[in-house]
Amino acid sequence: MATNKTPKGLDGLFHDTLKDIYFAEKKILATLPKMAMAAHSPDLKAAFEKHHTETQEHVARLEEVFEVIGKKPAAKTCAAIMGITEEGAEIMEEYKDSPALDAGLLAAAQAVEHYEISRYGTMRTWASELGLTEAVQLLDLTLAEEKKTDVALTKLAESAVNVAAEAAE
Ligand SMILES: [Fe+2]
Ligand SMILES: [Fe+2]
Repeated sequence: MATNKTPKGLDGLFHDTLKDIYFAEKKILATLPKMAMAAHSPDLKAAFEKHHTETQEHVARLEEVFEVIGKKPAAKTCAAIMGITEEGAEIMEEYKDSPALDAGLLAAAQAVEHYEISRYGTMRTWASELGLTEAVQLLDLTLAEEKKTDVALTKLAESAVNVAAEAAE
């Protein structure tokens, strides 16, 4: 049956996706310390710890974006991040005594970063289309940190971590 409800527009989609990434960032905040604890390489441990601190800032920035659109911060379960972190948890369990553990952790972490880069890229474009200049700035700051993290993880993957996994074969 047809209703009189106006269909949600881009502003509704922006708000819904904001709740989704807010959920994801909180999940990542809880997951990174576990990954840092599990990692064998001190460099990888340090990279996870650094990004944990940045992620606290990502959560705070999203709260500011909620404020920009006049909404209370609220999280909506993000099935994508649940799946990605679930895979990471499996790697931590199945490879905990393996020299390939760090390579697996890196792969899991990069899947998280790519997810975030995709979401923040979309969100900043929508914010721009909606004329939310302040939100664009906040989302851009986080997007830049996600990209930097991805590059740092790639460097680690290409250097010590994967080499160590291969040497131990
Ligand atoms: Fe983030
Ligand atoms: Fe991230």
